Amino acid sequence: MKNQTDSSTINQPIALITGANKGLGKQIAIELRGHGYIVLLGSRNFDSGKTAAAEIGEGAHPIQLDVTDAQSIQAAATRIHAEFGRLDLLVNNAAIGQSGRYASTPEILEASKASVASLEEIRILFETNVLGVLAVTQAMLPLIRLSASGRILNVSSAAGSLTLNSDPAFPYRSFFGATYPATKTALNAITLALAIELEDTGIKVRAASPSFTATAINNFQGTDTIEVGAKALVLAALDTEGPTGSFTGPDGPLPW
Ligand SMILES: NC(=O)c1ccc[n+]([C@@H]2O[C@H](COP(=O)([O-])OP(=O)(O)OC[C@H]3O[C@@H](n4cnc5c(N)ncnc54)[C@H](OP(=O)(O)O)[C@@H]3O)[C@@H](O)[C@H]2O)c1
Repeated sequence: MKNQTDSSTINQPIALITGANKGLGKQIAIELRGHGYIVLLGSRNFDSGKTAAAEIGEGAHPIQLDVTDAQSIQAAATRIHAEFGRLDLLVNNAAIGQSGRYASTPEILEASKASVASLEEIRILFETNVLGVLAVTQAMLPLIRLSASGRILNVSSAAGSLTLNSDPAFPYRSFFGATYPATKTALNAITLALAIELEDTGIKVRAASPSFTATAINNFQGTDTIEVGAKALVLAALDTEGPTGSFTGPDGPLPW
């Protein structure tokens, strides 16, 4: 990457995607690149980000970024400032479904029940899925403020919707629990808080949910391909004109 401190000299929009070495994050990077974006692929393991960026080719840059590591986040922000000068789009995509202690989906669902959920498991999940998003956002915000069309997209889940899960007819209601689903509820709250706070700046802050996609986070049990699953995310990521503070999914607006 060349040294770059004057953001006005890069005409292409610049996007950072966290957890972009695989899964939906990588697909978002591929599609944003297809729309002319310079894509910065955040990955906690630099080598896997490097491999993904090499597959995408020119205009794709790996960047070491562990969303739970303050030093890594600061180093990434410093590097983006030095080499690109600004950020037009931040996609907070990185997340985990569990800490690694559970072997199967039924075990994860059982362990998510609020009456028995491990507080340590909940802490680990919130650290990545909620505090990690906030930490990255706070570090990148000065760079986003330098953009003429700054946007933040938080990759959430319909599984975190309080409105949907309050409805006895919602088919996935029994999966609502204190671990992963609650992290997405908290992420939604932070999304809305930031959208309200930044309303006057023109920076748009949104949440979007993919469809149920076969990726590592669900042991590849999702029913959609990554290309199909990423559609709602790419649509929300590319939207420079729509309202701030929205929560959307594959079929349009989702209730918070
Ligand atoms: N798949 C679905 O059906 C579905 C449904 C609703 C919402 N989502 C959301 O979609 C997003 C992408 O998930 P996915 O389905 O693509 O799962 P995935 O393939 O497991 O990808 C998750 C990504 O997050 C990264 N990550 C995890 N912890 C990190 C950390 N501390 N720092 C930086 N990166 C970290 C992973 O990196 P490593 O490779 O190093 O582990 C990986 O790149 C997540 O926010 C997820 O909650 C997915």
